[in-house]
Amino acid sequence: MSDSLTITPEAVAAAVQDALAAFTAAEDTAALKAARAAHAAEASPLAKLNASLRSVAPENKAEFGKLVGQARGEVNRAFTEREEQLAQAETAARLEAERIDITAVASRTRVGARHPLTLLQEQISDIFVGMGWEIAEGPELEHEWFNFDSLNFDVDHPARQMQDTFFVDPVERHLVMRTHTSPVQMRTMLERDVPIYALCPGRVYRTDEFDATHLPVFSQFEGIVVDKGITMAHLKGTLDHAAKVLFGPEAKTRFRTNYFPFTEPSAELDLWHPTFKGGARWIEWGGCGMINPNVLRAAGLDPEVYSGFAFGMGIERTLMFRSDVQDMRDMAEGDVRFSEQFGMVV
Ligand code: DAH
Repeated sequence: MSDSLTITPEAVAAAVQDALAAFTAAEDTAALKAARAAHAAEASPLAKLNASLRSVAPENKAEFGKLVGQARGEVNRAFTEREEQLAQAETAARLEAERIDITAVASRTRVGARHPLTLLQEQISDIFVGMGWEIAEGPELEHEWFNFDSLNFDVDHPARQMQDTFFVDPVERHLVMRTHTSPVQMRTMLERDVPIYALCPGRVYRTDEFDATHLPVFSQFEGIVVDKGITMAHLKGTLDHAAKVLFGPEAKTRFRTNYFPFTEPSAELDLWHPTFKGGARWIEWGGCGMINPNVLRAAGLDPEVYSGFAFGMGIERTLMFRSDVQDMRDMAEGDVRFSEQFGMVV
């Protein structure tokens, strides 16, 4: 191929057409670069036409110069345009190819579980329901009569003092946050017919410190039985059974004499805890006794015909020595890391 071509409008137009067709046909930047080398670089027909300008007659120089110049401009623009198109298409293809699905099915709400205190309360309730008992309930905002008077507390009994009991304004209404679950004894006797076999788990309130072994709001479970011929042996057998279910077959209970206004005789209840962390030992668990005849009378029952027993224990305390919890405040503060140790039972 000679270094120069004869410049004619047809030859220029053909060179341009060939170049544009080659650019359009190029499907990637590499092919486009090859097309440019063939149609716009040195040794391309267009470059040769350009070189031929030198040998054009002077009177035609301007006209042919313009013709070739426009042709080169057009080819360059077409190249740039195609180059941009291909670059965009290649970027899009790469983005599509490298796409990572960063969406994942996330559950925003963590699955909850019940609090260990609730679980223990239900476990205790189940023991008694399993013996045919009913679950009884009473209000946490209680009348002073149910909380104290009907249970044979003297008017000046120390438990009534401001330092133990949350009295609720206005004081003339005699409302207190119940200091124990024992008022449910009286409510149960008034609401139900004898015989009564009932367990009342629930929240109670005292003006106690918030420390490792006290909470001003805590929970108890209260048992009450009223029937004909009930003796302290029934009480002992019932408590021993509950102790064994909760603490294993080696567990048992013992009574120590004590005084409660609403029971006579009354006993402090100790539990033999066979698997206690620091070694098997007796642990003070709660109070119990035979229902005081005055309490039966206040409920309209004849103590000559009916007798009964009652007991009351703290659930936080029970959880403490059953599951080796060192600080009772952990049970109140709601940190899931505490609850999780007991398993996520729903
Ligand atoms: N109510 C008592 C307390 O909170 C515990 C108690 C003692 C309950 C003797 C009873 C009982 O039913 O018979 O300290």
